[in-house]
Amino acid sequence: MRIRPTVRTAAALVAAASLVAVAGPASAAPGAPGTPRYTDGSTSGGDPYFPAAGNGGYDVQHYDLGLSWYADGRLDGTAVVSLRATQDLASFSLDLRGLTASSVLVDGKPARFTQLPPGPDGRGGELVVTVAPKLKAGTDHRVTVVYSGYPGQPLDNTGAQYGWVTFADGVLVANEAEGAPTWFPVNDVPTDKATYDFRITVPEGKTAIANGEPVGAPVTSGGRTTWTWSADDPMASYLATASIGDYAATTQTGPDGLPILNYVETGLSPSRAATTAASLALQPQMIAFFEGLLGEYPFSSFGAIVDEDSVGYALETQTRPVYSGVAGQTTVAHELAHQWVGNSVSPTTWADIWLNEGFATYLQWRWSESRRAGYLAQQYARVAAIPAGDEFWTVSLTDPGAENLFAEAVYDRGAAFLVALQRTIGDAAFGELLRTWVRDNANGNVTTADLLALAEEVSRQQLDDLFRDWLTEADKPAV
Ligand code: ARG
Ligand code: ZN
Repeated sequence: MRIRPTVRTAAALVAAASLVAVAGPASAAPGAPGTPRYTDGSTSGGDPYFPAAGNGGYDVQHYDLGLSWYADGRLDGTAVVSLRATQDLASFSLDLRGLTASSVLVDGKPARFTQLPPGPDGRGGELVVTVAPKLKAGTDHRVTVVYSGYPGQPLDNTGAQYGWVTFADGVLVANEAEGAPTWFPVNDVPTDKATYDFRITVPEGKTAIANGEPVGAPVTSGGRTTWTWSADDPMASYLATASIGDYAATTQTGPDGLPILNYVETGLSPSRAATTAASLALQPQMIAFFEGLLGEYPFSSFGAIVDEDSVGYALETQTRPVYSGVAGQTTVAHELAHQWVGNSVSPTTWADIWLNEGFATYLQWRWSESRRAGYLAQQYARVAAIPAGDEFWTVSLTDPGAENLFAEAVYDRGAAFLVALQRTIGDAAFGELLRTWVRDNANGNVTTADLLALAEEVSRQQLDDLFRDWLTEADKPAV
C-alpha cells in the first residue's frame, strides 16, 4: 500500500517551511522584502462553466469523511481536509451547499467561519474560514468541519439529479460535474485530486459502498453499522461516491489479481438482474481488452454499484461506477474505459469534457467491435449520415457550454473524430497515441491542445486542420 501524502514527518514539514522562506520574494508582495502578505483565497476555482466551484490558495491532499446517514434523509458529517497552502492565506473557502456547518477547526483550534448560500442560479455555496494564525504558503494544515443537513435530491444546472441523491431506501451519489459540495466540504475542481477515507454509518441492514477498498468488516453497534473504505489513488471530487442501499456483494478477479467488488441492489426485477449479471460477468475480459489498448488498469480495484433507484444515468465513479437501475454491457464498457480516460487522465476544465466522453465512447465502440466485426465502421457511418446543420455539428466540442456537457455530440462526434484521426494517422501511430496519452498523463489533467501536440508528435503530421474541422468549427467536417 502506498504511503498517504497526509502522513508527514516533522522533518518534511521543516524542509517545506524552509523552502518557502528561501523563496521569500516570489511569494511576498509589496512591503518589506521577504515579508508575507496574507490575502483571502479566491472563492472560485476558475472554471469557465462553474466559476462558483473550487477555490484558490490551497491544494487538498486528503479527505477523511465521517458520514452518518439516517432513514429520514438526514446526513451528519465530520470532514477532515488535509491541505497545503499555495499562497499566504488570511482566509480560504471550501465548497459546501445545502448543509449547515456547526464547527470548524484548523489544526485543532476553533476557527471563525461563515457560510455563503448558493447564488440565484442554484450554483455555489461556500464555507469561508478565517484563519488565525494565518497560513503560510507551502505549509500543511488539517481543517475539521462538522456539518449536518437534509440533502434531498439536488439538481444540476440542467435539472438532472446529482450529488447526494436521497431515496426512500438509500442514497445514490453521483457528483458530476460540481455536485460534491452537496455532501462534503470540498475544493470541487477536477484539477485538485486527493486521496480519500470514508467511514459511513447507516441503519443496521443497509450497506454503504464507496471508492477504493473496504477496510476491515463493517461494525454494528446500537442498531447502526459503520462501513469503512479507503481510496488511495488520487481522485477528482466529481468521482467520489458513498452510495447506500440494500446491496448484495459479489467478487471477481481481473488481470494480475485485480480485485473486482460488485454491489447489486437485491430488489432489481428478474430481467434487469439478468442483464446486469451478464454485463458484470464480462468485466475481467473487458479490463484485459482495454489494457491491451491503453496499458495497465490505473487503480487498485474495480467493480460496480447497481442501484435500484435511478438518477437517469450511470457515472464512472472512480474504481466503482454507479448504474441507475440496470448495468447494460456497453454502459459497463463505457464506465470502465473512463477509469483510464476521465479518471486517471482528467479534463483541466469542464470545457474539455469531450476528452472524457469522446474517448470513452470510442473505446466502448472498440469493445463492441471486438465482439462484432464492422461495428466501429457502422458507428462512424451513422454519425457521418447526420445532416449538416443539425445541432450535432454546430455545438463546439472545445467549448460546448455548461448546458451541453452531456450532449450527444460530445459523446458521438468526439468518438467519430477519434475514428477519423485513426484513419488519418494510421493504426500504429493511433495505437501509440492512446498508450502515450494515458501513460504520460496518468493521475493528471489535460486539454485538447495537449492532445493535438501529442498526436502531431507521434504521427509527424500536421493535424491542426483536422482538429479544427471536427472539434471547433460550427459546421459538418469533411467525413
Ligand atoms: N459521465 C457520465 C457517463 O458518460 C454521464 C453523466 C451524465 N450526467 C448528467 N447529469 N446527465 O457515463
Ligand atoms: Zn461517459
